[in-house]
Amino acid sequence: MKIELADGIYWVGVVDWNLRDFHGYTTPRGGTYNAYLIVDEKIALVDTVKHGFAGEMLDRIKEIVDPSKIDYVVSNHVEMDHSGSLPEIMKIASHAGIICTEKGKEGLSKYYRTDWNFRTVKTGDELKLGKKTLFFIAAPMLHWPDSMFTYIKEDKILLSNDGFGQHLATSFRFDEEMCSLLGYECDTVMDEAAKYYANILMPFAGVILKKIEEIQKLGIDIRMIAPSHGMIWKNPGKIIDAYLNWAKGVSKKKVLVIYDTMWNSTEIMANEILRGVSDSGVEVSLFHLRRNEWSEIVKEVLESRAIIIGSPTLNNGMFPTVDGFLTYLTGLRPKNKLWATFGSYGWAGGAVRGMNEKLKSAGYEPVESLEVIFRPDESDLVRCSALGRKIAMMVKSA
Ligand code: FEO
Repeated sequence: MKIELADGIYWVGVVDWNLRDFHGYTTPRGGTYNAYLIVDEKIALVDTVKHGFAGEMLDRIKEIVDPSKIDYVVSNHVEMDHSGSLPEIMKIASHAGIICTEKGKEGLSKYYRTDWNFRTVKTGDELKLGKKTLFFIAAPMLHWPDSMFTYIKEDKILLSNDGFGQHLATSFRFDEEMCSLLGYECDTVMDEAAKYYANILMPFAGVILKKIEEIQKLGIDIRMIAPSHGMIWKNPGKIIDAYLNWAKGVSKKKVLVIYDTMWNSTEIMANEILRGVSDSGVEVSLFHLRRNEWSEIVKEVLESRAIIIGSPTLNNGMFPTVDGFLTYLTGLRPKNKLWATFGSYGWAGGAVRGMNEKLKSAGYEPVESLEVIFRPDESDLVRCSALGRKIAMMVKSA
C-alpha cells in the first residue's frame, strides 16, 4: 500500500519491529527508519534506511517508480541508520546526485565512497524538482555536525531527520492515527518523543532553541513534520511546543530518587527520603539503577525538577553503576535541575564525595548531601526524611 503525505510525496521507509537497542538506548517499542520519495519532473529520495533493510525500501519505491530513475538522493544525515542503504541505492540509481552538507560529503566519503556525484548545500539553497522545490536548512548537531533539514516549500512539509523523532514501531505512520483511538496511544507518541529527546538531543538544547527561532525568522510555515524515526506529525504545533519547553528546561514539580545499594542501607535511606518528599505533597518516583533501564530514567529526569541520587561506598568511591549513570546523565547536560546526594558507608566513606565532585566538575552544585555510617538508625531516618522534605519545599517554591 502506498503511503502518501501529500500529492507526489511518499513514505518509503521501513519498520524495525525487533529494534531493542539503539546504540545503548533501549527501544522496547521498536523503531522505524523513514525515507521519503518525492515524484515530480525530477525524482528525489530523501534519506535511506539502515543497512539490511534496503530490499524492503526498494520494494516500496518500486510500487511508485523505477528506482533507477531517481535523480537525487538527499542525505540529511550521515549516521548509518539513514545512510546504511545508500550504497545499494547508488548501485541502482548510479546517475543520481547526492545532496548533502559539506560535512555530510566528508562523512559519506569516509564511510562509503568518494566518487559519487556530490552536490553540497547550505541554509537557503534550493533544488527545483519541477512543481516542487526543496529548501535546505543546515542543522548542525541535530544530531551530528553534518545534519540538515529539507523543507518542501509548496507542501509546507519539513523533513527533519532525527529532529522530532521517536523510536516507535507501529502499523500507523501519522500521529493523528495514533491519537484517533482512545488517547492512550497518543500519549505513547509523546512519551517516546520525550525519551528520544532526552537520550539523543538533550545536550543540544541551546542549538534547538536557536534553530526553531531561525526557522521562524525564515518565515517557514510548517504544515507537517516528517522525521526519519517514528510518527509523522500532522499536528506539528504540539511537538514544536514540547521541544521549546524541553530545551528551555521547563519541568514538572517532581522529584526523582535514583540509587543503588549493596546491603540495603542506601535503599533504606532512599525510601525514607521518598517518604519525606511524598509527605510534603510533591510527586516523587524511585529508581534502582540495576532494576530500571537508564534511558527510561533519563526521560524521567527531563521532566522532573529535582534529582536526589544515592550510592553506597565501594573501594572508597561510588558504586560503579552510580558512577556510570552519572557519566551518562551529565554528558546529556540536563538543564535547570536541583541536585542532592546521599549514601552509606562502612569503615571509610567516599561515595558522597565522589558524586559531589563528579556533579561539580560537570557544572552542577548539589544543594544538600547526607551520609550514614553502617545502617541508618532512628536519627538517621529522621535526617533522610528531612532531606526529602527540604527538597520538596525547594521544588514547590521553584
Ligand atoms: Fe537517526 Fe543520528 O541518526
